[in-house]
Amino acid sequence: MTFSEHPDPVAAEAPVGIFDSGVGALSVLRHIRARLPSEHLLCVADSGHAPYGGKSDAEIVGRTLAIAAFLRTKNVKAIVVACNTATAAAIAALRQHYPELIVIGVEPGLKPAAALSKSGKAGVLATASTLASSRFIALRDQISVTTGVSFITQACVGLVEQIEKGELSSPATALMLQRYLSPLLRDGIDTLALGCTHYPFVQPLIEAIVQRESVVPVTIIDTGEAVARQLERSLQQRGLQRLTLSEGTLQAYTTGSRSALVNAFAQLLDLHPPVAELTAESTA
Ligand code: DGL
Repeated sequence: MTFSEHPDPVAAEAPVGIFDSGVGALSVLRHIRARLPSEHLLCVADSGHAPYGGKSDAEIVGRTLAIAAFLRTKNVKAIVVACNTATAAAIAALRQHYPELIVIGVEPGLKPAAALSKSGKAGVLATASTLASSRFIALRDQISVTTGVSFITQACVGLVEQIEKGELSSPATALMLQRYLSPLLRDGIDTLALGCTHYPFVQPLIEAIVQRESVVPVTIIDTGEAVARQLERSLQQRGLQRLTLSEGTLQAYTTGSRSALVNAFAQLLDLHPPVAELTAESTA
């Protein structure tokens, strides 16, 4: 690993932008705050346009670039695309537009899922868009060939909407998850990659279904921690880590309802950051 010999304390003061189609940003943000508590963070939930999972690639690229343009006006030093769907569809376009910025994406944890599997079968839950993307298919095929592990994938249509509504343990969400998970468990998966950043918020439900229906223990893989580590490495390499003991600030924005994001932060992370509603013009 190479570290910058000339850390730039002024540039290091700039915030890190984190965005997702909605509250999925919060499942990544909690790992970033835990690992990099001094960093100033700006979190954008594009809940007014969620879910991304059923949108065309062109629409997802459009939303990603609009939010990145907003974050750029806030002088961010890095953008974390805390969304598997937007990473698959738009990270190449984002890097092309902002070559000067650190851009970190998130992908389903197929590598750890394969490494930890004893049965040779790993499950992947993600949006339909992520699973259909050429980026995901290339990753899946490459890891299957090198490890011999087969991946059983399931698009969880409707699950992001349930989580956006705050229905993390309702009977409707439990039934939906059971319908998606049961066939994978019957097929004998023993690892399960959560390929959407919303899904860690229903991990307790997933664990309950696994407990009831699987004959073997199933290891659940969330990539939030790996994303935080990758961000830390990238900031170190460019000398952009905020090296101070003072805690970083957190400001949140939403294209949906302000009160919904205030509640999501309070309920999901026990945090109470200032939340501003973004107008259509600021992310058009
Ligand atoms: N959190 C997003 C992801 O990781 C959800 C996408 C959506 O809005 O459908 O894929």
